[in-house]
Amino acid sequence: MDMSNLNTTHHFDVIIVGSGGAGLSLALSLPDHFNIAVLAKSTLTDASTFYAQGGVAAVLDETDSIEQHIDDTMIAGAQLCEIEAVKQTVEGGKPSVDFLLKHGVQFTLDEQEQLHLTREGGHSQRRIIHAADATGRAISTTLVERAQEKQNITIFENYIAIDLITSYKLGLKDQGNRVLGLYALDEKTEQVHTFLAPSTALACGGAMKAYLYTSNPDIATGDGIAMAYRAGCRVANMEFNQFHPTCLYHPQARSFLITEAMRGEGAYLRLPDGERFMLRFDERAELAPRDIVARAIDYEIKRLGIRHVWLDITHKPAEFVKEHFPTLYARLLELGIDITTEMIPVVPAAHYTCGGVMVDENSQTDIEGLYAIGETSYTGLHGANRMASNSLLECFVYGMSAAKHIESQFNTDYVSPDVPTWDDSQVMNPDEDVVILQNWDELRQTMWNYVGIVRTTKRLERALHRIEMLKQEINEYYHDYQVSKNLIELRNLVLVSEMIVRCAMERKESRGLHFTLDYPELADELRKTVLIPPSFKVETPLVNAESQI
Ligand code: FAD
Ligand code: SIN
Repeated sequence: MDMSNLNTTHHFDVIIVGSGGAGLSLALSLPDHFNIAVLAKSTLTDASTFYAQGGVAAVLDETDSIEQHIDDTMIAGAQLCEIEAVKQTVEGGKPSVDFLLKHGVQFTLDEQEQLHLTREGGHSQRRIIHAADATGRAISTTLVERAQEKQNITIFENYIAIDLITSYKLGLKDQGNRVLGLYALDEKTEQVHTFLAPSTALACGGAMKAYLYTSNPDIATGDGIAMAYRAGCRVANMEFNQFHPTCLYHPQARSFLITEAMRGEGAYLRLPDGERFMLRFDERAELAPRDIVARAIDYEIKRLGIRHVWLDITHKPAEFVKEHFPTLYARLLELGIDITTEMIPVVPAAHYTCGGVMVDENSQTDIEGLYAIGETSYTGLHGANRMASNSLLECFVYGMSAAKHIESQFNTDYVSPDVPTWDDSQVMNPDEDVVILQNWDELRQTMWNYVGIVRTTKRLERALHRIEMLKQEINEYYHDYQVSKNLIELRNLVLVSEMIVRCAMERKESRGLHFTLDYPELADELRKTVLIPPSFKVETPLVNAESQI
């Protein structure tokens, strides 16, 4: 349907921002009589979900148990995970797999025609279901197809949510802070539309485009976290950014991940002289949790002054490698690397945002009617380090619980208050996009150099100083010029980068993914880092605020 001819104010029952695993599991779990809008700022499959390789963790094997999955998650998360969230997620494993199978996702089967289970770092058992080495593609394309078949779901591709509309922002203070909808830019017509609904869900993915080198697609600019924070939601644990140990080091392949399942199936990490160096760092060697492996690689790269280390699966039979990793085999062959006979050059890259918008067990945020799901949210599951393949699981578990809650809260008598349409009569056409490009590059370089795998207080202070200057410049630009996709994303990314640095400065210890030379030990106290926005109102739900920055 051509949306450009429609009135620029749209009314729905539920607005979902995001078409990844989180957004679509919510959309497909809501009742058919709900009128749902799904917005995606690019095409529907252009999301981290599509690029997932390893799989989805779930307790399915009779030798495995819920308790073991919980223990593994807590250990990987350096004991900072919130146990209720871990239980909810792990117990939601089987229902999530059933949800995916019901919608027709084809996973790899073993010789007994049962779901094949692979292994990844931190897991004491084989418990990862997968579709060869392209699990995300199988999940994303299937869920997108199901959503497109639904009459009650209207899809808005290339619509970029700019900001939430709340009762407080409109000065309607008597009814508490409630979300009323959002403004979104239609990239094709350059028009800003108003979307109104009693419930809105942010399923916008993570923020790892804040870093120069990342496994994430371009959409990962932290829009959901930034929009929620500006509207008055608390955000937690932003210092915990996961660096995936093995991204391809190759000039022609940007952001290309080499799945951890390759190490799960026996691949070794080696130095240029052939040494299997992980044995020196951890008894679990290549299958230690990601923070440990990424830090070890970073240490060796800096110690030896090399550009990358090697991932080696050449000792496995060629047929085994081709069968388990058909996508990687084909892609790397195109780049001139035959992985059955040659080692793969790899480096760590920013991969996953463990922190996010604080939510409860129903995915509810601090603002009434506003939900956050998937990588945008902070449920408490990941603690100081996410265990491999727990994030897709979290998307499905919390997508489904949000659906139940939205249904239970639905009020047929709801009438939206009057909301003004977007007013850009006072702004100018942007004269030079080079300002945005310059700031974008500077931000990502700063984050990579000063807020990376190993941190110090001095580096964080330097980063904050630069980010504050960039933020001021970008905010001035935002107020003076018409919005564009680049500008919206950069405005969000600079705010989220500031959150990462502020959380990192608050944490006076090294735990999980946050490692600082100034506080190399674990602190006795287990606490999350909570950022409270100026517009946060204490009468809104959820737990008490722990700290204010
Ligand atoms: P995404 O899938 O990223 O979707 C975000 C959506 O939000 C997109 O549709 C985007 O267009 C939309 N959006 C964002 N901002 C806006 C805006 N302003 N307006 C409109 N729309 C917006 N996890 C695992 O568990 N197992 C794995 O094997 C695995 N492998 C991975 C491999 C790679 C290369 C990467 C990058 C990640 C991997 N992860 C894996 C992590 C996992 O894929 C993600 O955490 C998960 O897919 C996030 O899903 P999501 O729905 O929250 O966000
Ligand atoms: C991978 O396949 O290595 C990624 C798995 C994950 O990020 O959970």
